[in-house]
Amino acid sequence: MILQEQMRILAHRNIAKDIFEMTLQGNITKEIKGPGQFVHIRTSAGLDPLLRRPISIASVDTDESCFTVIYRAEGKGTKLLSEKKPDDTADVLGPLGNGFPADAAAAGETALLVGGGIGVPPLYELSKRLNEKGVRVKHVLGFERAEKVFYSEQFSLLGETHVATVDGSFGTKGFVTDTIDRENMEFDQLYACGPIPMLKALEERFHGRRGYLSLEQRMGCGIGACFACVCHTADGAEGRGYIKVCTDGPVFPIGKVVLA
Ligand code: FES
Repeated sequence: MILQEQMRILAHRNIAKDIFEMTLQGNITKEIKGPGQFVHIRTSAGLDPLLRRPISIASVDTDESCFTVIYRAEGKGTKLLSEKKPDDTADVLGPLGNGFPADAAAAGETALLVGGGIGVPPLYELSKRLNEKGVRVKHVLGFERAEKVFYSEQFSLLGETHVATVDGSFGTKGFVTDTIDRENMEFDQLYACGPIPMLKALEERFHGRRGYLSLEQRMGCGIGACFACVCHTADGAEGRGYIKVCTDGPVFPIGKVVLA
């Protein structure tokens, strides 16, 4: 069920350049089905900005009825959100979308989790769940430069973790695909979230393999009503030749969506 709720902000902190981690408490938590789902947060009490901001869920604590989101403060809305303090409330709609199927990997198999920038957060809850199932996880996380890197230690506690930065100021120099090639990484199941060029590069390499990609897409309503998030399908799937990222995704099997 999708709820709209004034959620209490339990914690809120700056964890890297322009990157914020916010923990929210409330009833939406118990409706979260899996990693990769997102919430839509209203960033201002007034009409500007009017639209909510889609932000993916990074981890869930059902015992405490809270979940954590990580977002980049880059536009007016998210900058306003970054000014909120613990014990303030946030107007949240969610949970939205269909997340990563953790069941796609079986105990004893190896899953490769690849994240780029603000695509990294949903992989954290996914990695925790895969660990619980006995799936071996490997992470490759890509960032622009050292000051943008976050959660590398948290991921390291869950499994083998490689960090790549474009300028080489942290981890290895280059893109996530350079690291995958250099390390000759083997896996049974791929999960990835990040910018389209990264997803395209992965799809070119691993088309035909078992994999799921989560798309970062511009959104309006978040609930399937406005068509702002439409993408074409590679084979005219769904009987209509297009999908809505907000309600059909944001996670899709590799090769299903035309990445443009
Ligand atoms: Fe409105 Fe997807 S954001 S239909």
